[in-house]
Amino acid sequence: MTSIEYKNNQLHIEKLNIQEITNSNQTPFYCYSASYIENQYDELHSAFDMDIKIFYAMKANSNLSIIKLLLNKGSGIDVVSGGEIQRSISAGAKGKDIIYSGIGKTDEELKYAIESKIHCINIESQSELIRINDLSKSLGVKQNIAIRINPDVDAKTHIKITTGKAENKFGIEFDYAKSMYNIASDLKNINISGISVHIGSQITSLKPFKKAYTIIYDMIEDLRNNGHKIDHVDLGGGLGVSYSAEENIPTFKEYANLIQSIFGNSNIKVYIEPGRLMVANSGLLITKVIDIKTTTQKTFIIVDAGMNDFIRPTLYGSYHEILPVKNNLGTSNKIYDIVGPICETGDYFAKNRKMNSVKIGSLIAIKSVGAYGSVQSSNYNSRPQIAEILVKDDKYEIIRDRVEVKDLIKQEKIATWL
Ligand SMILES: Cc1ncc(COP(=O)(O)O)c(C=O)c1O
Repeated sequence: MTSIEYKNNQLHIEKLNIQEITNSNQTPFYCYSASYIENQYDELHSAFDMDIKIFYAMKANSNLSIIKLLLNKGSGIDVVSGGEIQRSISAGAKGKDIIYSGIGKTDEELKYAIESKIHCINIESQSELIRINDLSKSLGVKQNIAIRINPDVDAKTHIKITTGKAENKFGIEFDYAKSMYNIASDLKNINISGISVHIGSQITSLKPFKKAYTIIYDMIEDLRNNGHKIDHVDLGGGLGVSYSAEENIPTFKEYANLIQSIFGNSNIKVYIEPGRLMVANSGLLITKVIDIKTTTQKTFIIVDAGMNDFIRPTLYGSYHEILPVKNNLGTSNKIYDIVGPICETGDYFAKNRKMNSVKIGSLIAIKSVGAYGSVQSSNYNSRPQIAEILVKDDKYEIIRDRVEVKDLIKQEKIATWL
């Protein structure tokens, strides 16, 4: 689905001219297409000929409206912290809708998760398992768990978002997994519900998925043969999205077919936890050109968004298409670096990029920022976090207010002895 396109040289998101949003909202800001996200959910879900439950990985974009929109579609939510549990409940999720993944869960977070009656906790270590048992005992309940397996599979993605290799901090080592299930089955306040795996993010080939899922399939057989009841398999997220027209990403159907070919006859509930896939291409970061500076080596387009607003290009070296909102100044042969105002050389959105002409005051749109964009923003350089806007058809609403500098200052105190 294309929800972002030019009409009469004006960039639109759904039926809304972006220029219209900027008339009454200060740049920079994020804006997302609601219909795009709804459509992604529907297309992914309907690609499967088997029963499947989607748990949206809210770490990708945790705005309450985005969570609510996906809950309304029937999605569950995959969380990785107590804060994310609180957020998803605030958006209307019930405990049964929530799966808790992630390493380094504190006792406080686990207690909150158990009290919230969440559907399942994915276990990352033996001590975590024991702590959950102890906490569940003190609360007089039995908690559903799945053990997250580290299958030692290279997802062939960026090193910082690879999670399924033996050297990574995530999951239980394959050779140790069976004894973990034996330990879990002896714990009175633990109910073994399933098994989980997540090998990384922005994975653009089905091969690593096939390898990891086959390992998990074999393990399920083995565990069942040893008397363990495995009701569900949680296959994590990770299917990549195209950030540029050249990228060749497996289709939803190919991904679904792979999962069906492995687990279709296993009499097991299948869960997936996509994050990026649901939201990445729904979003734009709209920013204004503050200055254009030409040196002997470069021409810099300096915009009012910075790496504090959107860190992916400098953190992961990620590529994002960048377009003028008003495409009326014609083509340019110039090569630009598009940079922010932060005092770091790493503060850039694109290097050596060709784009149509812009001038000081022009608005530009950075594409594919709906996932791992706003959620990774900070207040670095005392630049308060920016607004988020949700668009549906020709209407929009602000779904997160812009923070003000005075709000940042309010959180701090001058020590009494100063
Ligand atoms: C456990 C788990 N599930 C799901 C996801 C979502 O991944 P993605 O956004 O690539 O679909 C992540 C992110 O890395 C994760 O850690």
